Amino acid sequence: MPRNAATTGQVTKSAAEIYDEFFVPALFGEWAGPLCDAAGIKPGDAVLDVACGTGATTREAAARNRPNGRVAGLDRNSGMLAVAQAKAPSIEWFESMAEDMPFDANSFDSVLCQFGLMFFEDPVQALQEMRRVLRPGGRIALSVWDSADNSPGYAEMIALIDEMFGTVAADALRAPFVLGDRAALRAVLDKAGLQGARLAICSGNARFASIRDWVRMDVRGWTLADLIDDAGFEELVAKAEERMVRFAASDGSVTFPAPAHIAVWTHP
Ligand SMILES: C[S@@+](CC[C@H](N)C(=O)[O-])C[C@H]1O[C@@H](n2cnc3c(N)ncnc32)[C@H](O)[C@@H]1O
Repeated sequence: MPRNAATTGQVTKSAAEIYDEFFVPALFGEWAGPLCDAAGIKPGDAVLDVACGTGATTREAAARNRPNGRVAGLDRNSGMLAVAQAKAPSIEWFESMAEDMPFDANSFDSVLCQFGLMFFEDPVQALQEMRRVLRPGGRIALSVWDSADNSPGYAEMIALIDEMFGTVAADALRAPFVLGDRAALRAVLDKAGLQGARLAICSGNARFASIRDWVRMDVRGWTLADLIDDAGFEELVAKAEERMVRFAASDGSVTFPAPAHIAVWTHP
């Protein structure tokens, strides 16, 4: 019998573990501090992190509201929450939709949502829920990516995927950027009753070990996985290495700007 993962009882890494190991350092980790700053979290605060994923921002909040603050993380995805729970067992983790949260009204001093809003089935309803569970005087702080056009690496990657694999595949990579237009973001916030939210564009960077790694994460660690097969992946790496060399440093590592909006709304 050949020795392979199946015959040696080895499980492959879950998508959530890949997300945590690669995507969080490449794109998300650096935003946890600024988002907690924007929320103004203090010792003793009760904080909710909506769409917490593997908990990068939730753990940052927990480091700030010690010694007697409450921190809860909520996500619809059980795989993400399993990683979050293993990394921080003392935080309360909830598997739930953001659109219908299992908390009483006026339960939290701060509600965070880092790069989740653009994926919600009903973003307006989710924002209304965030407002419902927030205490008067508390803050909602959320981040969404700026438009793909302002993130040069992603603008080119989306164009290349569109050219090679068509609109459906390209749309999967466009999805994280759909609330990047300031007016579109403002309209969603206003519709949910969060008028007067402060919006700031903040600079950040995407960082990958190489162009191949960047493509691997976007294709294998994201919703494109079922749309591009192994041969397509190799073709995409070859084309990206040819066309996107300007994003790579002499050691092959890739860095390009990936700005985001941070919105803050204070409950009157
Ligand atoms: C890009 S990840 C961001 C995760 C985390 N905030 C971070 O910064 O690493 C988006 C997260 O939104 C979650 N999500 C998407 N739709 C959701 C919904 N309707 N309710 C709750 N979570 C949702 C996904 O499961 C995923 O964990």
